[in-house]
Amino acid sequence: MADAPVDTATSVPVAVVGAGPAGLMLAHRLGRVGVETIVLDTRTRHEIETTQRAGILEADVARDLVETGVSDRILREGHEHEGTEIRFGGRAHRIHFKALVGESVWLYPQTDVFIDLADARDRDGGTVHFGVEDTEVLDVTTAAPRVRYTAADGSRHEIRARYVVGADGSRSMCRNLIPEDRRVRYGKEYPFAWFGIMAEAPRSAPELVYAHSDHGFALISQRTETVQRMYFQCDPDESVDAWSDDRIWETLQARVAGEDGFRLAEGPVLEKAVLRFRSFVQEPMRWGSMVLAGDAAHTVPPTGARGLNLALHDVKVLADVLLRALGDGGEAALDDYQPQALQRIWRAQNFSHWLTELLHTPPGASPFDRRRRLGELDNVVGTRAGRTYLSEQYTGWPVSAQG
Ligand code: PHB
Repeated sequence: MADAPVDTATSVPVAVVGAGPAGLMLAHRLGRVGVETIVLDTRTRHEIETTQRAGILEADVARDLVETGVSDRILREGHEHEGTEIRFGGRAHRIHFKALVGESVWLYPQTDVFIDLADARDRDGGTVHFGVEDTEVLDVTTAAPRVRYTAADGSRHEIRARYVVGADGSRSMCRNLIPEDRRVRYGKEYPFAWFGIMAEAPRSAPELVYAHSDHGFALISQRTETVQRMYFQCDPDESVDAWSDDRIWETLQARVAGEDGFRLAEGPVLEKAVLRFRSFVQEPMRWGSMVLAGDAAHTVPPTGARGLNLALHDVKVLADVLLRALGDGGEAALDDYQPQALQRIWRAQNFSHWLTELLHTPPGASPFDRRRRLGELDNVVGTRAGRTYLSEQYTGWPVSAQG
């Protein structure tokens, strides 16, 4: 296989496996300074575009997407949120990010970020092959790694690169190229999942609502004037077929109900899915000439909406490091990537885990656990330090000054 004849062989400085936001943004950043890439994905563009993902961008990430020429649509169609609402004990508590830490976030779905990035690659003449099969990444411990793949038309190709980036998502095959005895995988599973819906209904609130109740967690997010995104905590083995629209609305209403009489605007459920999640990090993030970025190296529960933001932070650091490595720095320049990326990754791991535990009610929670959690929620929303901590973590940390 590794040496079977191919139809074409092409040389580029960087081959990227994975055309999600991490892979495409890396290609975009490198393309802007004249470094050519070839990006591959086993999924079709349509498959990626129609997969629902989270929707919150840190202000820095939104700014980068605008300033590097990927998306000014964010400014027209996205919504700046200066805060969020935390509901528990039947009451609403607004956390005013802007007033507390001077930052806001943008509601702009990941699928739109992907569409903007894919369009920007098309516009700039970048090479992206969707729907490829039988991808093989070879010779990563040498200075001449190769990637082989079968194109959608059945032809077989080889890319000869100086570096390979594994941005191939949470089911990454690239990360498996790091030998088992040389890698560590840190992870945690949760005893709950999210039931996610898309519903045709007007907005129920101007900002996101994160709700904790004795029955479990719920999140009220938005998409457009007429389509809303909502989630509620469910069993990881829950079947979507067991959930009628009526049962979904009854569950969501119970989780956000309160003395203020808050109710969700209901409408037909357009899509429903059970979304499992886990916390995961693999170290190292580099093996020879191959570097991992985004979900391939780490995943977080969706509660703090950190996943996309982290992935785009990885490739910001990585684009600089690769440029230096391709220039005078040589391969040693790659050594700077992991420490810089990991600091933010572990901060985000901690935040995502903390917010998940804070807002969910695990099955079998004892009366003490349930009552203590309310005490913690009260500490978070009822003290300036608590609100500031939440705001600082949720809106992200500055890229260079991490102090
Ligand atoms: C979403 O809009 O889909 C969303 C927002 C915030 C989260 C997770 C998902 O924490």
